[in-house]
Amino acid sequence: MANNLLKGKKGIIFGALDEKSIAWKVAVRAKEEGAEFVLTNAPIAMRMGEINKLAEQCNAQIIPADATSVEDLENLFTKAQEILGGKIDFILHSIGSSPNIRKGKSYGDLNYDWFQKTLDISGLSFHKVMHVAEKQDALNEWGSVVALSYIAAQRVFPDYTDMSHAKALLESIARNYGYRLGRMKKVRVNTISQSPTKTTAGTGVGGFDAFYDYADKMSPLGNASAEDCANYTISLFSDLTRMVTMQNLMHDGGFSSMGISEDIVDMISK
Ligand code: NAI
Repeated sequence: MANNLLKGKKGIIFGALDEKSIAWKVAVRAKEEGAEFVLTNAPIAMRMGEINKLAEQCNAQIIPADATSVEDLENLFTKAQEILGGKIDFILHSIGSSPNIRKGKSYGDLNYDWFQKTLDISGLSFHKVMHVAEKQDALNEWGSVVALSYIAAQRVFPDYTDMSHAKALLESIARNYGYRLGRMKKVRVNTISQSPTKTTAGTGVGGFDAFYDYADKMSPLGNASAEDCANYTISLFSDLTRMVTMQNLMHDGGFSSMGISEDIVDMISK
């Protein structure tokens, strides 16, 4: 259901790889709600993904950028403002990757060069995005910046290894830049802590199916889907949430407030 919640707003959406991507669903919903935006992803993802299809569907242009490169981000923000004809109202950071997880390294056997890459891609890049936006004075007042996080930032999920530290960093950056951009431009910055979701990044984590089912059975509402996450993100880009900032917002069907559920008790008792 479209309500023109983003009518007249201009944005940048990072991280749509394929139809399963959370960023893909956000782009589709943002278009339905009347936004104009550019899509961006790492140059390598352009070759692997199907982002051209999404761009066509949303009538959006694509500007490749490796989110760890300040130079790429400078080019992205300059071009995005040219294409959209003005400053930016919303940004979605939907980026995550861990070479250690991809290569099956356990927590006790992490490769530290890859660890740094994980932090750079999945955490520090969020700082770089806002740094470039600030330096170019690219954001409109009352704008909204959202990044996607996971509860492994607060609790232990052994297979999430170095990504858990990247998410803790990401959430801390949201608070600190939220303060800064709030003071400077009345821009809000939040993270959404999303349920396990069947995407390329999600299913790459060891034991994904087990913790997907576990979270689903623990949560009174079940796991939040990528579509649900897109709807929540749209609400955070809209003017209905102007005073929400520096928060890590749980979007998990109730998982984070649970101790144990009857479904889990039943499963274990069997
Ligand atoms: P996805 O695999 O569709 O998206 C991850 C994106 O990150 C891809 O588009 C990839 O190309 C992009 N990326 C990787 N390296 C990059 C770089 N150097 N520069 C620019 N982009 C780069 O998977 P998904 O699940 O949609 O992931 C989006 C976000 O949601 C990530 O931050 C992820 O950690 C987070 N999240 C995912 C959950 C899940 O279970 N799928 C749960 C909670 C959070």
